Amino acid sequence: MEALRAEHLDKRYGADETEVWALRDIGLVPARRDRRALGPSGAGKSTLIKVLGLVTRADHGDLWMNGERVLDDGAPVADVGELRRSHLGFVFQKANLIPFLSRGRTWRSPARSASGSRPCARADELLADYQASATAATPSRTR
Ligand SMILES: Nc1ncnc2c1ncn2[C@@H]1O[C@H](COP(=O)(O)OP(=O)(O)OP(=O)(O)O)[C@@H](O)[C@H]1O
Ligand SMILES: [Mg+2]
Repeated sequence: MEALRAEHLDKRYGADETEVWALRDIGLVPARRDRRALGPSGAGKSTLIKVLGLVTRADHGDLWMNGERVLDDGAPVADVGELRRSHLGFVFQKANLIPFLSRGRTWRSPARSASGSRPCARADELLADYQASATAATPSRTR
């Protein structure tokens, strides 16, 4: 089953002379292990990640996660909070990091509030998968 499918995503910031189309008619079905969004500054990478991560609302477009319809023409039609808690995660490069926690602890802290049988183990798996385990004990703001 597809982990993710997006169709016709639009996201526009501002209006009139300040209007910017950050996303316009974007569709994608990433492979399960796709993990990069590449493009020049301003191409819309962060906006796309935030829309797919259910942090920012798309103006229009349809989204499915694991076959479940999540957005219908931009409107949430699923339990977005539960999806965010159980299936989605963000690791910020600088902003919002907790300065006194190691990277490993930073990854594990949201996992503790997630449902599932072994959330911390899952966080550790993801950490290793992203090849960051070697630096897991490093304070998160220093690298
Ligand atoms: N909150 C906002 N308000 C207004 N315009 C925005 C906002 N966020 C992004 N934009 C604009 O939307 C467009 C896409 O921005 P976005 O941050 O998604 O690009 P990006 O590919 O992540 O860029 P970068 O590589 O610099 O991080 C840019 O023109 C940007 O100025
Ligand atoms: Mg960006």
